[in-house]
Amino acid sequence: MDYFEFKDHELWCEDVKLSDVAKKFGTPLYVYSKKTFLRHYQAFTKPLSSHPHLICYSVKVNSNIAILNCLARAGSGFDIVSGGELERVIRAGGDPKKVVFSGVGKTRIEIENALNVGIKSFNVESRSELDLINKIAKELGKIAPISIRVNPDVDAETHPYITTGLKDNKFGISYKKAIDEFVYADSLENIEVEGVDCHIGSQLTKLSPFEDALSRVLALVDNLKQKGLNIKHIDLGGGLGVVYDKENPPLPSEYSEKILQQLRQYPDMELILEPGRAIAANAGVLLTEVLTIKENEAKNFAIVDAAMNDLIRPTLYNAWQKIVPLKLNNKYMKNYDVVGPICETGDFLGKDRKLSIVEGDYLAIKSAGAYGFVMSSNYNSRGRAAEIFIDESKVFEIRKRENIDNLLELEVIPNFDEAPNE
Ligand code: LLP
Repeated sequence: MDYFEFKDHELWCEDVKLSDVAKKFGTPLYVYSKKTFLRHYQAFTKPLSSHPHLICYSVKVNSNIAILNCLARAGSGFDIVSGGELERVIRAGGDPKKVVFSGVGKTRIEIENALNVGIKSFNVESRSELDLINKIAKELGKIAPISIRVNPDVDAETHPYITTGLKDNKFGISYKKAIDEFVYADSLENIEVEGVDCHIGSQLTKLSPFEDALSRVLALVDNLKQKGLNIKHIDLGGGLGVVYDKENPPLPSEYSEKILQQLRQYPDMELILEPGRAIAANAGVLLTEVLTIKENEAKNFAIVDAAMNDLIRPTLYNAWQKIVPLKLNNKYMKNYDVVGPICETGDFLGKDRKLSIVEGDYLAIKSAGAYGFVMSSNYNSRGRAAEIFIDESKVFEIRKRENIDNLLELEVIPNFDEAPNE
């Protein structure tokens, strides 16, 4: 459930009318609801209250530091995939001891920094990475807490670009080799084996792949115990799907409860989850203005001021996100392709959408709180959109709109007439 709703034919976020926000801050504009973020976060934590757990919100999904701050205050930990994300968490007031570091290609400097601030766990993806972490920890005189990401080889039944737990994906260590890798990790002087980690994909709409993955992980934990390894936590990753259109994913509470059932025999085993989309997607919308309506023999186009550089999911994954006008009326219903001003045929936000709009109207692209702003770019020299955070009737600008100076800040025209120094 989220706090974006129509009242008297106008779309509101919490206690704020969105057309007022669009007018005040301009478009394209990302708008997030604080209450929705917190509600979704609590939907994971509440059912788990009887079991040791840590929700590590996946920073990549929406990494604005105001949002991280709000989740950190609610007690959240964080799943990061880069040194940049670690820095965001720290600047947002997050606790490094609640940070797990995922990702297939961690660099030396990222590992050093993570060891220095004392993160909870490195989710290790390969033997080379284990060796590197061990080496760096030794140099720094530290013990690195790790878990190994295993690839449980279950089919998440989601989009091929976002499935990660199959044998032929680049992620994790194969299930078959896992025991050897854990035993090897345990033999390393500056490594402390803490957990078993997996993440099988994103936008999963069924519980069964999670159940299968957890069963396999628990079988591994039992095996490791027999070998004398004391596994303290299980990290099941993220991946719970959301409703964009007609999907019917389990609720976070149903998902958490199901996991608890499977963990009944393991009362002391800390459970870590890394949800992202399920917390953020429906906590945000992207507002845009209809610039031009163009009708030709085959199609009607609504050319809007947001584009694929602002929200790339439709272009990249053919993802469907709901598009609604901020003011509802049913006077001139027609089918439109909602497209951006970028010079690419693939620059669309939605196709064949039934809308009643005129030029100058505002639209909201829904479910844009996850993988929206974070995947935006400056393609076509477009400044990235501003971001707004709404807390009941309070409106905060949590990222300013980029201007051309921001875009050119790091570029230099060299003195071409000077001889190059080889
Ligand atoms: N943990 C790990 C290790 C991950 O790789 C991911 C997402 C998550 C957690 C969070 O998963 P979530 O709960 O959000 O499903 N850009 C794509 C999705 C890419 C997913 C990447 N990994 C999209 O817009 O659909």
